[in-house]
Amino acid sequence: MTVRSILQYPDKRLRIAGKKVTNFGPELQKLVADMAETMYAAPGVGLAAPQIGESYQLFIVDVAVGDEEPSDLRVFINPKIVHGEGEVAFEEGCLSFPGAREEVLRKERVKVVAQNEYGESFELETDGLLAIAIQHENDHLNGRLMIDHLSPLRRRLLHRAMAKRSPAIQAAQ
Ligand code: CO
Repeated sequence: MTVRSILQYPDKRLRIAGKKVTNFGPELQKLVADMAETMYAAPGVGLAAPQIGESYQLFIVDVAVGDEEPSDLRVFINPKIVHGEGEVAFEEGCLSFPGAREEVLRKERVKVVAQNEYGESFELETDGLLAIAIQHENDHLNGRLMIDHLSPLRRRLLHRAMAKRSPAIQAAQ
């Protein structure tokens, strides 16, 4: 397993939508293991493949990270959120926006269908932090980021704060 580097906003590769996963062979197993290693090292509660430059429909979440309880790693491949209801505001972070916390509105409860790392289909209906993490990570698979959910003012402030961290962007200005 390898800790991979995480792309940071405004890296354009974060805007590339993930391709459907069709091969559930050893390469995929290695990618999932690398993603878990990378997420736990960060540490974070979720990581999508496009965040490490792998444009696939794949994300992982573990909302038990940091708890005393055993961890709860979940793998979502080719996911589709088929139902959502209610509304909840939560202060989210993202490994591609280091240090940022922003309040984002999400569905309170979602139903998702996906495949696991062996290609087996499953369906999950959930709420709470897991539902929020699923929606956040699923956005990454479509090139959509936390910043896209903010008001124009908050978006500008966050963009400026992130651009300041990135020497490449500074040089381009
Ligand atoms: Co994120």
